[in-house]
Amino acid sequence: MTEVTLDTIANLAKKRGFVFQSSEIYGGIRSAYDYGPLGVELLRNVKEAWWRSMVQERADVVGLDSAIIQAREVWRASGHEEVFTDPMVECRNCNSRFRLDKLDDPDQCPTCGKRGQFTEPHEFNLMFRTHMGPVESDENLVYLRPETAQGIFVNYENVRRTNRLKLPFGIAQIGKSFRNEITPGQFVFRTREFEQMEMEFFCAPEEADEWFTYWLDARMRWYLDLGMTEESLRLRHHDADELSHYSSGTADVEYHFPWGWDELEGIANRTDYDLRQHTEFSGEDLRYYDQEKNERFFPHVIEPAAGATRATFAFLIDGYAEETVNDETRTVLRLHPRLAPYKAAILPLSKKPELIELAERVADGLRKRWMVELDVTQSIGRRYRRQDEIGTPYCVTVDFDSLEDGAATVRDRDTMAQDRVSMDKVASYLEERLV
Ligand code: GAP
Repeated sequence: MTEVTLDTIANLAKKRGFVFQSSEIYGGIRSAYDYGPLGVELLRNVKEAWWRSMVQERADVVGLDSAIIQAREVWRASGHEEVFTDPMVECRNCNSRFRLDKLDDPDQCPTCGKRGQFTEPHEFNLMFRTHMGPVESDENLVYLRPETAQGIFVNYENVRRTNRLKLPFGIAQIGKSFRNEITPGQFVFRTREFEQMEMEFFCAPEEADEWFTYWLDARMRWYLDLGMTEESLRLRHHDADELSHYSSGTADVEYHFPWGWDELEGIANRTDYDLRQHTEFSGEDLRYYDQEKNERFFPHVIEPAAGATRATFAFLIDGYAEETVNDETRTVLRLHPRLAPYKAAILPLSKKPELIELAERVADGLRKRWMVELDVTQSIGRRYRRQDEIGTPYCVTVDFDSLEDGAATVRDRDTMAQDRVSMDKVASYLEERLV
């Protein structure tokens, strides 16, 4: 496995157009990033793979897309207004601010190195605040959602009733969330605007422990099935003092990032906390009626909560490899074909018009099914290296023989093996391999 640093990935991401600093021409805004042409494809593919496994392939989960701005009462009921805070300290010497629980040494400032200069910790609420409408008054205060989950809880009864759902069932959502993190950083790992992929799985209280174990296993398998290295993934159960205010048990899927093990996804047993809170605050009875038992009760909830942008970053790191080929270093991004931004690159061997025209025809045929790139510039060796570096699983090269024999050379990113394939069979050749 190649040891990869944060700088290596950040440089690749910028050089190849995966991720750019937000507002870069104005000096950049800290902790917000823009996804370029390759990044947006990778991110979309990660979200699509999650949706497919969590919604499309399951009979017991449906989707939702709720609003980012919700009634302030939602966040009062959920507990976020009161307790969604991090302990913040400020250095009296250099005025830098830090999250106390993330400091290596709680007495020494990482910026100026001075000891004993921190203020008393102050609980800082992470929700972004804004106002609805033209008047900036306390009555019009609203928040940008810090998690997608609450949009699911407040729609629980709408979704259950309109879709005639019976327990157990899940509601899944992908979308942006916002947190005014005190110490964002490590590139796109912790940002103030990010995307989440969350699913709330509602079940009978006595089945919650079983479903919790089920989802731990299912979520680990998802990363592994998409090619993530087994040694770089682990499950870590939270100690009681780490648990969020709503959780009776949480385990994190952790990835071995360049700086060490860190959270990729949290899977929590949220009990009946949220449905009870929203029942109390809204006055709507969100209990479930079990017809067979003639009983009303609050379902319990198991929540696998993943970060779409964070997972995308982890897949980038995990796929990155450097290897020596013919005394030269080859950089290759071994992304799972389902995640790769482009599934194939079509390369005419030279810029002769008849080869370009042929390559365009091949590319147009494939483009209807997959994201492909037609690349006509630079030497063929350089073009292969560029495609390796952005993770394109196959390169299809048309040459002068192609004009005669109607075949192209298909090169495999990982093995670099080449096959001569009839041009009318290239699509089926790729289809068999792009699982
Ligand atoms: N609804 C539960 C919840 O939001 P969380 O552990 O706070 O739980 C879930 O967040 C996931 O969202 C995290 O595991 C992480 O992947 C992602 N996430 C959270 N904060 C983030 C941030 N500031 N930047 C990027 N991703 C973040």
